[in-house]
Amino acid sequence: MKQLQEFFKDQTIQSILDVGCGAGDFIKVLNDTFGSETQLLGIDPGEVWLREARARFPQENMEFRCMHGEKLAFENDQFDLVSISNALHHLAQLEQTLAEMKRVVRSSGWLIVNEVIDGELTEAQQNHRMLHHFKSYVDRLHGITHRPTWTEQEIMDLAEANGLQVKHAFLHLKMKQVNHDELFLDDKYRQMESLLEELQGRPEFDEKKDQLPLFKERLKQHGFHLAPQLLLIAQA
Ligand SMILES: C[S@@+](CC[C@H](N)C(=O)[O-])C[C@H]1O[C@@H](n2cnc3c(N)ncnc32)[C@H](O)[C@@H]1O
Repeated sequence: MKQLQEFFKDQTIQSILDVGCGAGDFIKVLNDTFGSETQLLGIDPGEVWLREARARFPQENMEFRCMHGEKLAFENDQFDLVSISNALHHLAQLEQTLAEMKRVVRSSGWLIVNEVIDGELTEAQQNHRMLHHFKSYVDRLHGITHRPTWTEQEIMDLAEANGLQVKHAFLHLKMKQVNHDELFLDDKYRQMESLLEELQGRPEFDEKKDQLPLFKERLKQHGFHLAPQLLLIAQA
């Protein structure tokens, strides 16, 4: 990522820990940014995600381990950089996880927080938010921690309240343009439909069922675009 390359051009980054790495999307960004000389370690409690990440990234400089962010099995000051991408709003123990990230990063090392944002979004981006927030609502009904997304300011405040000194922040788009492709939009519709099916037999079903035709209409009218992501570069 150009902005990261520019910011870190005079820094030595040899070891990176990515917390909540999932299938490795952000590890890929880091690998493209810092190159194959940098060791990348991704941790996630989800074995299914880790299997996918290992299959996608068999490179020698990348490793994936099963672990929770709130209890990192590493020594103090072990990594040059510790990141978390789109996982903050999934954490049951957010403060504890950020404290662990600060513990394992070396002194004057770097922390990256990357999060999809809420706030002023285009109509197509609001379609992403609608689907994402519906997923987080259904997850919460199942007892899974999944908060709605935060605004830029809320993410900044959260970072600062947890002792991160933000040195640089920027917005970026993972999806460069609005997608109007019929098959793609149909897939998004099906995702919403299967989430609604999970509510069948619950009182919440009647309350939420109108969202599906509304979402279909909105997709047809505006297409689908991932909401921007805010990337913070900070020090502890
Ligand atoms: C939306 S995914 C983000 C994946 C990846 N970082 C990315 O940017 O695409 C959120 C991830 O947070 C992980 N997660 C949930 N609870 C966690 C915890 N306590 N510690 C670490 N990761 C956690 C989930 O397993 C999931 O892989």
